[in-house]
This record gives sequence, C-alpha cells and structure tokens, in this order.
Amino acid sequence: MKIADAPVFRRFWYPAMPVDALKDGPKAFSLFGEDMVIWQAADGTVSALVDECCHRSVKLSLGETRDSSLICPYHGWEYDVAGKVTLIPQRPDVPPPAGARVKAYHAAARYGFVWVAVEDPLTGIPDLPEAEAPGYRLIQEFHEAWDMSTFRLVDNWFDLAHVAFVHRETQGDTSRPVPPHEDIEEFDFGLISRASVVIANRAAGQEYTGIAEATTVRTRVATWWAPNCRKLHITYPNGLQHIIFTAATPLGDKRLLFTQFCIRNDREEDIPAEKAIAFDRRVTTEDKDILEHTRADVPIMPGETPEQGMPTDRAGNLARKKLRQIIETYSPAMEPA
Ligand code: FES
Ligand SMILES: [Fe+2]
Repeated sequence: MKIADAPVFRRFWYPAMPVDALKDGPKAFSLFGEDMVIWQAADGTVSALVDECCHRSVKLSLGETRDSSLICPYHGWEYDVAGKVTLIPQRPDVPPPAGARVKAYHAAARYGFVWVAVEDPLTGIPDLPEAEAPGYRLIQEFHEAWDMSTFRLVDNWFDLAHVAFVHRETQGDTSRPVPPHEDIEEFDFGLISRASVVIANRAAGQEYTGIAEATTVRTRVATWWAPNCRKLHITYPNGLQHIIFTAATPLGDKRLLFTQFCIRNDREEDIPAEKAIAFDRRVTTEDKDILEHTRADVPIMPGETPEQGMPTDRAGNLARKKLRQIIETYSPAMEPA
C-alpha cells in the first residue's frame, strides 16, 4: 500500500516549508491532493487555507499578505488566518456574509518549519526537548524532494543491517555485516529502538565527531512517531550528542519532501556546522541512492504480497504492524453487506 491509500494519514502533522519562505508572500502547497495556500500574518501566526478564493475561485497563493490579512489578487477580498473574509473592498461599510470564507487546515510553526495537518491530528508535532535546551544548537540541514515511498524511508530508519553495505564509504564496514541486538519499545503512535553500534570512523567521520580512532561506538536511541517523523539520538564516547531529526512529507506515491535538521551539544568553534552538514549529506545521499530504486508500495495490510525477511527486520516489521494497527483503529468500520 501507499500512504495516500489510508485516509487516516491525513490526520498527522507534516512539515511543508521553512517559515522563512513566507517572508516574501504566500506560497502554494499540496498535501494528500489538497491544494492550500500557506502564509504568515504580521504577528507571526502561520495559516494554511484552501487555495481558492470563495468569490471567483482564483488561487489565493497568487495574492499578497498585508498585516493580518491575505489578499486575493483578483478583487482584493481580505482573509484572516482562520479563512474568514474580513473585508470586501467594494462594500467597505458592510460586514462580509458569514458564508464568505474558505476552509482552514491545521497549521503551526515549529523548528523553523510550517507544519500542516489536513484533518484533525491524532497526535502532536514531535517534542524535541533538546531543540530549546541550553547547551544545544539546532543546525538546519536538508529540505528537498526525494523519489521514494514514505514507508520505504520508515523501513530504512529502523534498518541496522544496511549500514555495513549502504554506508560502506562513510561509517559502515562490510566485514561486520551482523548488526547488534536492539531493544525495542512500543508506544501508542510509534516505537523506540535502542542499540550500541560499532562504526568505522574514517577521516570525514573524525572531522565531525572529534574522535581520532578508526572505529567508534554510537549509542543510539531511535524514536519513530508514526507515520513520518524520526529522531535519532546518537551519543559518542567523547560525550558528543548528534541528534538527527528527519521528517517525510508525502508528495506522491513515490515522492516525498525530505526534511532534516540536527541538534548538537557542541559549539561552532568545536566543530563547524558545515562539517556536520557535509557528513550527514554524504550519509543521506547514500540512503537516497538506494531507496529511490525501491517499489512505491509496501506490504502493510493483510492480503498484500509479503516480502522476504530476516531477524534484523524486526523493528521495521513492528513499524509496519504499528501502521496497520493505526489504519485498522482509525478507519471507519465497513457496513455489513
Ligand atoms: S476572486 Fe477573489 S476576490 Fe474575487
Ligand atoms: Fe542509512
């Protein structure tokens, strides 16, 4: 199945674009087939509305923002962040009728991005305490389209077995193909996996960890918030924490918006941000180059043709099971025939 096959996935938060992208006016965005205009009012509130004026249907994303209003480019009707028309310039003394409004989607600004949910969200935007904690810095990394299914990226997040092969140029070592044991804990809308992984620490890795040895150990806690967000909290033996947060926003059956930033407990003068970004760029590109050559659909529901497996697929299989449970729990019951 694909993420758009189950309507329940419209009830989660997805990052759409950097808040900074709204500085020069409203922007168009599309999620699960819903065309929306995303814009920011003067007080900083972000808003996502149906991208179609309720007067003569022109795209509001072609308009402009002024103070707390989004202004339609056709006849100048003004909208507030909730999608209500507050002014019809041709009738300035008459309040607009109650029906003069467009639907508002859920929108919020967090971690430098505008997040949107098409329908009432079942969970919140993931909480990342380190993002605001003293002693940590948030480094923006990537926000770009990748050609793969969201579910294939989720598989990859929990896949300790691919590191030796896919990342053999950066941190993997094909002479150590057997991944370590991992402890997996479930919560309502996700999973937590804990493991200590020996990795190769080559020159580029040494530059971003500050560790000189040829191998090192990553103590990693991976938290997945279904269906689309993952935090990988890595602690190195020298105390460095490199926390990677990644989110997928589905753009199509085999296309997603890949958003990633990292949070570190070091300082710019210790390791420049550009070194951390450069290393994560290499690692993410290694994943991308493999994942873009996988199938668009992933067997999640009963009746779909299963794939072969091995014991180290356990976390990925649990993630698929969690997705199945969410679909079954939140899908309307079938009427008896
Ligand atoms: S079409 Fe938007 S104001 Fe007329
Ligand atoms: Fe990977």
